[in-house]
This record gives sequence, C-alpha cells and structure tokens, in this order.
Amino acid sequence: MSNNLRWHDGDIPFESRCRLLGQRPVTVWFTGLSGAGKSTLAFALERRLLNDGRVAFVLDGDNIRHGLCADLDFSSAARRENIRRVAEVAKLFNQAGFICICSLISPFLQDREMARSIIGVDRFFEVYVSTPLLECERRDVKGLYAKARAGVLSNFTGVDMPYEIPRFSDCQVDTSGTSVDSSVDLIVAGLAQWL
Ligand code: ADX
Repeated sequence: MSNNLRWHDGDIPFESRCRLLGQRPVTVWFTGLSGAGKSTLAFALERRLLNDGRVAFVLDGDNIRHGLCADLDFSSAARRENIRRVAEVAKLFNQAGFICICSLISPFLQDREMARSIIGVDRFFEVYVSTPLLECERRDVKGLYAKARAGVLSNFTGVDMPYEIPRFSDCQVDTSGTSVDSSVDLIVAGLAQWL
C-alpha cells in the first residue's frame, strides 16, 4: 500500500445508519461444497429478511466471478484472493448498514478465518451447509462433478481439491434432509440476537 494515502472518515455516525435502517448489520457467510445448496439458501434468506423489513444483499460466488473476480481461477491462491475481495466488499456493505449474505465454497479454514477477521468476529455469522459430497454429486446441477470425475475439470472441490470442514460454525444445515424453508427458519433463529 502506498504511503501517499490517508484515511478520510465520513461524518455520519455508524449508529445513525443503524437507526435509519432499523438493524445491526452482519455478514452471513455460507460455506460448503458445490451443489450443497448455498446459493439457494442465500437467496431464500435474502427474501425472508427483506420480507421482514431488513436490508440485505447477496454476494454469490458464481455471480462475483462474472465481474469483480473474473480474473481468478480455482488455484488455492486465487480462491484466497477471491475470498479476500468478497470479505472486503462485505465489510463495506456492513459499514453502510446492510446485512450481507456471502455464498462461496470457501474450502479452506485459514481463508474463512481471514474473512472473519476482515469483517470482524462480532459481525461474522458462519453457516456450514453440510450436505454430503455423495448428495452434491448425485444432484450435479451444473454437471461439474461429472466433468471433474472425467478429468476435464481440475482443482474441483471434493474431487481433486479438499474441503476443510469447519471446526465451529454458528449454524449448520444439511439440505439433503431439510427443506429450504426450515433451513432458513434455523438460520433466522440463530441470527435473531445478532440483528
Ligand atoms: S471458492 O472456492 O473460491 O470459494 P466460489 O464459491 O467462488 O469458490 O466458486 C465456486 C463455483 O465455481 C462453483 O459453484 C462452480 O459452479 C464453479 N467452479 C468452476 N470450477 C470449479 C472448481 N474447480 N472448483 C469448484 N468450483 C468450481
């Protein structure tokens, strides 16, 4: 970072933004395998929060890779950079008073810890979507597991790249046994004391 930069604070207190929006901003971070149901839950949660009069916005891994992170591949280093950028954007959303919902595989513990420390421990609510690999692969919504098994796609999480299971998460849902609505109920219940 250049030495020729100086931080300029705005003069709107954070508390004023919270009062205006009637909420305390948090980041809900969905992690789990491809096909686990992260995006479905993220957008369902967004809908639920908006219906409840909250202001929330989804940063979805696939979508973000169309723009902000279009230059990144799926090496470990690029995934880390992907997560760093999304975490920095989520932090800005939170500073603006928005609830931010991030949906990324984010397979490595260390990278999720980086996201937690960028966003702040008191604002980072982690949801582990623990749908088993077998079920994700059975669904294979995008046909990517088939490509990875055929060797056409490399560095694919769960096939030739690891997924590190969270040691602790604020909420855990397995979409192979729970409906979208019930999963969102569970997340909203966990979130209630944060907002
Ligand atoms: S992350 O690991 O950097 O967090 P992210 O959530 O942004 O991943 O992107 C994952 C999406 O990219 C998947 O939903 C899938 O559609 C697509 N994808 C393409 N190649 C891969 C790959 N090698 N591993 C995982 N996902 C991939």
